[in-house]
Amino acid sequence: MPSNSSLTIQQPDDWHLHLRDGDMLKSVLPETAKHFARAIIMPNLIPPVTTFDMAKAYHARILSALPAGMSFEPLMVLYLTEKTDVSDVERAYQSGLVKAVKLYPAGATTNSDSGVTDFDKIQPVLEKMAELGMPLCVHGEVVKHEVDIFDREAVFIDKVLDPIRRRNPELKVVMEHITTKQGAEYAREGGDNLAATITTHHLVINRNHLLVGGIKPHYYCLPVAKREEHRLALVEAATSGNTSYFLGTDSAPHLDGAKESACGCAGCFTATNTLSILAEVFDKEDKLENLEAFTSLNGPTFYGLPVNSKKITLTKAEPIEYPAKIETPDGDVTVFDPQMPLHWHVKI
Ligand code: NCD
Ligand code: ZN
Repeated sequence: MPSNSSLTIQQPDDWHLHLRDGDMLKSVLPETAKHFARAIIMPNLIPPVTTFDMAKAYHARILSALPAGMSFEPLMVLYLTEKTDVSDVERAYQSGLVKAVKLYPAGATTNSDSGVTDFDKIQPVLEKMAELGMPLCVHGEVVKHEVDIFDREAVFIDKVLDPIRRRNPELKVVMEHITTKQGAEYAREGGDNLAATITTHHLVINRNHLLVGGIKPHYYCLPVAKREEHRLALVEAATSGNTSYFLGTDSAPHLDGAKESACGCAGCFTATNTLSILAEVFDKEDKLENLEAFTSLNGPTFYGLPVNSKKITLTKAEPIEYPAKIETPDGDVTVFDPQMPLHWHVKI
């Protein structure tokens, strides 16, 4: 059991992270690498990371952007399109460098135009992945105009995800960044081949934080934050210790100019203060003893990877100080503001 003011856990991983490329990659990578040993790297670059060769090249760019003295293992992901080649996926997985394939319904979120419209076309890839034991990471929102944006996750589960899983019961599926109680329930009841990631920000904000008292572009992300009852269901799920849930921050940096705009883009940048926020959330629920399962144990178990060997210590003291913005050569990226003091300090 943790004491009231100190907690030592195995080093965490982030099972859903956007690092981007070029100068942005260089600026944000240390924010994750200072705390996390590994991360599942989202492939929604422009152009997207659709092939093994592209994943190898991106992996090399990430490692060369890592400051001297820091260690970090990028776990690469292929962006699934209707043209994805089955043998390329197999080679990628067997190399050990690529750990998963990402399904974006076309148009669902930032840089998802090359995603999938006709799900029959990806069936051969899904069959091969089921045979290999390779997880499919799913952005679970339908994109039909007639479906309300706040209902898109629940409708996706019924209309798309459940049929895919019935057709491919052996396929390992990660429901990414769930935002609803329906998502949490479906993940919990899905057996060993199903899990869900939960972001840091969806444990902290509901749609009022986004919209009441003026629109807050830095709280806009996809899937969009829902009602308070859904946030509470996510907190209950994340802090439960249940192996169906693990951390995927979905930390998604955008330049302030792109967010503070008449058509602001989606994404919250949480890498800088994620662990302190999570400790605060678990502490408030009196569930600190389950933090390690969520950040460090359940993810590797689902992916069939070893737990990290290093440990980190969190200690509770005066509120931490962290920068409001991360500077990049092209402008600033605002760090997620949880609107509460963060008392948990992280020591590696
Ligand atoms: C992500 C991004 O900016 O790439 N944005 C977000 O709101 N989460 C895309 C995504 O994961 O949906
Ligand atoms: Zn994402």
